[in-house]
Amino acid sequence: MANSCETNGSCGCNNTTTASSKPLITKTKVNEDLQDYWDTIYTVVDYEKNGWYEKVPEKTLALIEQLNLAKDAHIINIGAGTTTLVDELLIRSFTNISATDISETALNLLKERLQDKANQIDWIVDDLTQPTLLKNIDSVNLWIDRAVFHFFTEPKDQEQYIKLLSDKVLTGGYVILATFNLNGATKCSGLPVRRYNELMLKEKLKDNFDLIDSFNYTYTMPSGDTRPYIYTLFKRK
Ligand SMILES: C[S@@+](CC[C@H](N)C(=O)[O-])C[C@H]1O[C@@H](n2cnc3c(N)ncnc32)[C@H](O)[C@@H]1O
Repeated sequence: MANSCETNGSCGCNNTTTASSKPLITKTKVNEDLQDYWDTIYTVVDYEKNGWYEKVPEKTLALIEQLNLAKDAHIINIGAGTTTLVDELLIRSFTNISATDISETALNLLKERLQDKANQIDWIVDDLTQPTLLKNIDSVNLWIDRAVFHFFTEPKDQEQYIKLLSDKVLTGGYVILATFNLNGATKCSGLPVRRYNELMLKEKLKDNFDLIDSFNYTYTMPSGDTRPYIYTLFKRK
């Protein structure tokens, strides 16, 4: 569970640099309602009990494995939350990792778990549907989004997301995009989601990306309930 320091920044630790951690780069104004919503979720629930929490993100790691990326490839974890994927990328000696989320609370929890290794990650608090900082990041070789894009139910938010993705992924670079599939839940964390199949995701990204792999996968949540996902791997044209 987060302590008050991480949740409300009362000690002023959120934006400071310490020997063991890079600063959490944040902008003064994101969509505050949405940010509060997600911050609250990460504050009131032990993150290991969240429905999307994976002890080991096996499917994502298997996709990354087949890409044979250089160790200094720029990998961005989109809507990272408290994902263990960041830990696993560090274990695999990747050296150029960014993690972004609208929830500063989530990223602080992730930083806390990583301890000294947090210093090896670039941290960005931003809203994917109204990006400012994300527009200025270095281009990426791999963009990884599990369980984030499906929250964007409005066409304008989807378009903004896809524009950012297209602007930031290098030619020949990759995108791993995993959403709830058509058998999946209609809500997650109390928010409506848009569900997809392979063709629907392919259609969304068709202008700039080729689909190179896709599969359905039913994830068993910490509660024992199941959530059917579609995983896709795209390559930037
Ligand atoms: C269901 S969680 C998935 C977390 C992580 N990808 C994983 O697989 O463990 C969705 C994440 O998306 C983030 N998120 C939701 N809307 C966002 C937005 N507009 N911009 C950036 N992040 C957002 C939330 O804060 C949350 O951490």
